[in-house]
Amino acid sequence: MTDITLDWASRHMPRVARAIANLPDLSAIRLSMSMHLDMKMLPLVYGLCRRGASLYITTCNPATVRDDVVAHMRASGANVAAWKDMPAEAWSDAIAGGIAFGPTHLSEMGADYTHYLMETGTALPDVRCGLEATGSGINRLKGKLPPWPIFNWDDVPVKEGLHNRHMVGLTTWNAFFSRTLLSLHEKNVLVVGYGSVGQGLAASARAFGGTVMVAEIDPGRLLQARYDGWQTGSVAELAPRADVIVTGTGGHHVLPFSVIERLRDGCFLLNSGHRIDEIELEPLLALPCEAPVPYVTSHRLASGRTVHLLANGAMANLTAGEGDSLNSFDITLAVMAEGIGHIVRDGEVAKAGVHLLPDPIWGRACADFG
Ligand SMILES: NC(=O)c1ccc[n+]([C@@H]2O[C@H](COP(=O)([O-])OP(=O)(O)OC[C@H]3O[C@@H](n4cnc5c(N)ncnc54)[C@H](O)[C@@H]3O)[C@@H](O)[C@H]2O)c1
Repeated sequence: MTDITLDWASRHMPRVARAIANLPDLSAIRLSMSMHLDMKMLPLVYGLCRRGASLYITTCNPATVRDDVVAHMRASGANVAAWKDMPAEAWSDAIAGGIAFGPTHLSEMGADYTHYLMETGTALPDVRCGLEATGSGINRLKGKLPPWPIFNWDDVPVKEGLHNRHMVGLTTWNAFFSRTLLSLHEKNVLVVGYGSVGQGLAASARAFGGTVMVAEIDPGRLLQARYDGWQTGSVAELAPRADVIVTGTGGHHVLPFSVIERLRDGCFLLNSGHRIDEIELEPLLALPCEAPVPYVTSHRLASGRTVHLLANGAMANLTAGEGDSLNSFDITLAVMAEGIGHIVRDGEVAKAGVHLLPDPIWGRACADFG
């Protein structure tokens, strides 16, 4: 991984600095956060601590934790309960720890705290308002009434249209190239899911020389993929023709083992969706396996064919790669900082339930300088 310093990150994230400067005094705020523990989050964590907030942080995905980032966050004054590849039980304890911390506010990527509280019937802490960053978290909350207002910033146009649509594709293929030293030229690439992440994965795969196919279960999005010029069909139909398969759905076992058994010899499997189980991993991991290069494991199927799995099926761009560019993530993180400003001010008086982060709030993060 590139050794990016806080100074280098801060220098290229002026919108984050501006959003932090506009935050009120946070000394009465106890904020439990769950998020990817990536170096690019550091300017926000330092900024929140400087504004006086008490922070508790765990990860939203043990596979994406960077232990050096955890050390930096602790040095800034945050309580951090996370380490790379922490087991599920320890992660669950860390989520419970974020509740025991007695937060006044939550900032989540995957709704882990809220889901934990609502599923376990744990006595509700004095949470006044929350913020949710991911489609997977919003989907988890569907049909449920959380006991406080939660502001969804996954669906604000700038995040969907910029980060999800442009950055995930670029950075996923960058991770694929840097870890395998293979490009997509002359390769059939199957993209599973055609939300904004899938759309970006497909467009970037073509830009990097691949021949793209798209599998979708939503008929409207399948049609959209066809209008965008991709070959379309179901996973079961298209996967046996693919050399590289990438999932980006937020769904469970969208690439089932029954399909993996029929793949071409040498097919690569990677995931950029939130969940580690988008690819049905258990039967795959039980097969004879070797690790020819870092971040790639090669699994021998009963047929004698081999498939290669990137980053153990975890989010490829964040585990085997560096994630977003600093300049692009500046906007995403500034929206998050503005969102935190909103939940500690006006957001607290909103009705219980999920709301979209209002336009003027995220709009401030996008405004040009000058
Ligand atoms: N890697 C990253 O850095 C990163 C960044 C942003 C979002 N994400 C994650 O990527 C995932 C997708 O995000 P999005 O914004 O595009 O979500 P989205 O919900 O808009 O789109 C997902 C699409 O997948 C389709 N889908 C679901 N199950 C399927 C199946 N079995 N076969 C084919 N298609 C299926 C859905 O119909 C939908 O169109 C989410 O899990 C999100 O959290 C990852």
